[in-house]
Parts: sequence; structure tokens; C-alpha cells
Amino acid sequence: MRLDGRGAVVTGAAQGIGLAIATRLIADGAAVLLTDVNGDAAQQAAKTLREQGGAAEALPVDVTDEAQVRALLPRAEDLLDRPVDITVVNAGRQTFNQLLDVTKQEWDAVFDVNAWGAFLTAREAGRHLRAAGRGGSIVVIASRSARLGTPHSPHYAASKAAVLNIMKSCALEFAPDVRVNAIAPGMVDTDLWARADAFESELDGSAAGTARAGRIRQIPAGRPGSPADIASVVSFLASDDAGYLTGECVHVSGGDYML
Ligand SMILES: NC(=O)c1ccc[n+]([C@@H]2O[C@H](COP(=O)([O-])OP(=O)(O)OC[C@H]3O[C@@H](n4cnc5c(N)ncnc54)[C@H](O)[C@@H]3O)[C@@H](O)[C@H]2O)c1
Repeated sequence: MRLDGRGAVVTGAAQGIGLAIATRLIADGAAVLLTDVNGDAAQQAAKTLREQGGAAEALPVDVTDEAQVRALLPRAEDLLDRPVDITVVNAGRQTFNQLLDVTKQEWDAVFDVNAWGAFLTAREAGRHLRAAGRGGSIVVIASRSARLGTPHSPHYAASKAAVLNIMKSCALEFAPDVRVNAIAPGMVDTDLWARADAFESELDGSAAGTARAGRIRQIPAGRPGSPADIASVVSFLASDDAGYLTGECVHVSGGDYML
């Protein structure tokens, strides 16, 4: 129970990696506010976690909305009835399109959530902790694609490169009290990957699952990541075990980051 007594906020927590992160932080002793633009799904997820004995609340939050994000940490402390010193910047959006066809609308929609939303959430978490005179930990979810080109989602890859840079600016600004780190997942089995596979199949006329199987063959670990693989590293980064880590990016990709 290395997070006993701690309070945490997770954005984009209604499903996928965010939900796994909330589940793991609770298992490690934290009380967690699950937030998502899909407020009903976040409420349902929090209810399920409470029924399993966990300390979970939910709040609809669109990470691109400045007023909502500014109010988030104070509101989380009210709802959880304890100080919040862990913020997980997980909400993300990906669309798929060939590089030559990417529109400004698509570019802006993805950057709005992934870059602006991540900056806003980390900025307001740091502001809140500084005002409260407390330390804490912010963990942002980037992507393996931040370091690599992704011709079928170049706007997403660029937005995740921005996330890594934002993480470093925040780590410098909020040191020494607040640590800010990133995780760069490789392929993780969620809805997002199902959509990637559907796009590739449509593009080259291959059977559903072909692109997915091809990607899995490239991964040194021999399998895709699970949301729980990402969540366990978030829990470590949020904990005192990672007390001397800040401005760092951990590649949780089964070795895929090397390729
Ligand atoms: N799945 C992968 O292979 C993979 C790989 C690398 C990085 N990531 C990153 O991990 C994070 C989680 O991805 P996932 O696979 O669980 O995706 P997902 O699509 O299953 O879940 C994303 C969640 O974010 C929420 N969200 C979207 N826009 C939002 C907004 N404006 N405000 C608040 N919430 C919003 C969605 O409602 C959803 O619940 C994302 O940042 C994603 O880019 C995923």
C-alpha cells in the first residue's frame, strides 16, 4: 500500500489506460477522482470501483476547458475529502489519416486535447500544489510515437512530442517540490488500437487484425502491452520510491521503443 492516504486525479479515466491507472492507484492505497469528458462513463467506472471497496469518485471534465481544469484539484479535494498530490495527465485523442490528407481541423482537434489539455492539466496541478505549499507528483502519458514518425497519424505523433517537452518545462518550473515525469507506452490493447487496426485494414484492403498482428511480431516482448502494464509504472512514478526522478520519460513498450 505504497500510496496509503494519498489523493489522486486521473484524466481520461472512463476506460482503457486511464481506468487501469485509477484501479491500480486505488489498489495501492490512494483515493482517486476519475475524470473524463464522458462523465457518465466515468461515474459508472467509479461506482464499480466503489462496489469493489475502493475509494473512487467521478467528475465530468473536458481537459481543453480552462475553467473546468482550474477548478479540478480543489474540487477533487472536496470530493475525496483528503489532499490531492498525484495528478495523472492521461486524457488523449488520436485520429488516423494519411499524411498527405491531414487537415487543419484534425490537427487542431488532436493538439487541443493532447498538447493544450496536457499543458493545462499539469500547469493547474502545479499551481495548486505550490499554493498549498505541498509537494506532489504529476505523471503524463506520452507515446512511443513521440520519438518516431507516424505517417498515418503524424499530427498525433507531433502532439505527443509536444507532451514530452511540456513535461520537461513543468519539471523545471515546479522543482524541487513537485516531480513531473512521463510514460511513453508502446502498443497497448485498448479501443485506440482497435481503431488503428481498422484504419490500416481499410487502407490496404487486408483482413481485420492483419496490421495488429504485424505490429505484435515487431515487439521484442512478443505481446502488446496491457493497460495494467502502464498503470503499475504510473504507481511507481507517483510513489516515494521514485523520489529522485523528475523530468524523466519511461518507455513502457516491451522493448519496442528501441525499434
Ligand atoms: N493505446 C495505446 O496503444 C496507446 C499508446 C501510446 C499512448 N497512449 C496514450 O494513452 C492515453 C490513454 O489512451 P487509451 O488507449 O486508454 O485511449 P482511449 O481512447 O481508450 O481512452 C481515452 C480516454 O480519454 C478521454 N478523453 C478524450 N478527450 C478528452 C477530453 N477532451 N477531456 C477529457 N477526457 C478526454 C476519452 O473519453 C477516453 O475515456 C492517451 O493519452 C493515449 O494517447 C495510448
